[in-house]
Amino acid sequence: MTIKITGTGSELPEKIVTNFDMQELVETSDEWIRERTGIAERRISTGETVSSLSAKACQKALEMAGKAASEVELIIVATCSPELLLPCCACQVQDMIGASNAAAFDMNAACSGFLFALNTVNAYLQAGIYKNALIAGSEVLSKLVDWTDRGTCVLFGDGAGAAFVEASADDAVYDNGRKAGLECMVQGSDGAKGMVLSCAERPVNNAFVSEKQTVNPYIQMNGQEVYKFATRQVPACINKALDKAGLCVDDVDLFILHQANVRIIESVAKRLKADIAKFPMNLDKVGNMSSATIPVLLDELNRSGKIKKGDRIVLSGFGAGLTYGASVLVW
Ligand code: COA
Repeated sequence: MTIKITGTGSELPEKIVTNFDMQELVETSDEWIRERTGIAERRISTGETVSSLSAKACQKALEMAGKAASEVELIIVATCSPELLLPCCACQVQDMIGASNAAAFDMNAACSGFLFALNTVNAYLQAGIYKNALIAGSEVLSKLVDWTDRGTCVLFGDGAGAAFVEASADDAVYDNGRKAGLECMVQGSDGAKGMVLSCAERPVNNAFVSEKQTVNPYIQMNGQEVYKFATRQVPACINKALDKAGLCVDDVDLFILHQANVRIIESVAKRLKADIAKFPMNLDKVGNMSSATIPVLLDELNRSGKIKKGDRIVLSGFGAGLTYGASVLVW
């Protein structure tokens, strides 16, 4: 038994906000943002929600897979910016797309969310509990961003990506000797360093608390600490995953990394001694969309034919938690 991604989809808000637009809001410049991050523009919601974006991305993934919504058995939405705490976003998506036979729940592993959801789905499918699952990574981070804080507001964007994953009994080996499926995965967390990238929810101000608390409800980040974490941890966990699978960097065709910052991706490529051409990027157009970055890029590459059957891909995410992970799969 193996698992296959048989459909991908993505959905972005309509509004494009360029670095020049950002110059109107905070003291920054197109040059600074491009040099330090690689971002030129991002999509920002003017009403699109995590659930509406997820539902559209999921529908596109289902269409590509040629499946009806009623056939979906499990829906996981990875998000850290849902509109509602209850019900979860996955249940809203279930309703929106009409997947009435699915079990649905959310996962929050921040920017590693889609990857952690894929690994979770792999475990469910390998265990024979479900035969298929829809996964979405979806965020409207623009509502968690302090639009007066130039250190964070220039980095993030909104959007959603999705994948339909199926259990497959097809054990066929491609001409290159590879078999489709998820070959190996490594996940990790470092909660001790969690507060370097945080966003508060409501404090405990119930009827029994005498001193009411207030919190800053926006994303707060120590950018340099996050940068150090990502550039060390990502190559280390990719190497660990490849070692576990008995593979080396040269055995990989594409490294699809969380799109946070072009400098982070370049540094990872350098540390792995891998050709930067194997690291596709789209963050210039969409910014950092947390859990949505990997599935949106995956969908772009899939639809444009840049991923071919038999290609070996490393997906790697990192972010708040701190969380990180790498999965090796053959398409
Ligand atoms: N425009 C112009 N200047 C800015 C700015 C902006 N948007 N944001 C910060 N600055 C200023 C700072 O205030 C600072 O000024 P000072 O020297 O007068 O104090 C200066 O630029 C340098 O700031 P610093 O934070 O040292 O910059 P940096 O080189 O570390 O780059 C990041 C900042 C955020 C781009 C970088 O740390 C980074 O990419 N970190 C990872 C963040 C990330 O990816 N987070 C999400 C992970 S999932």
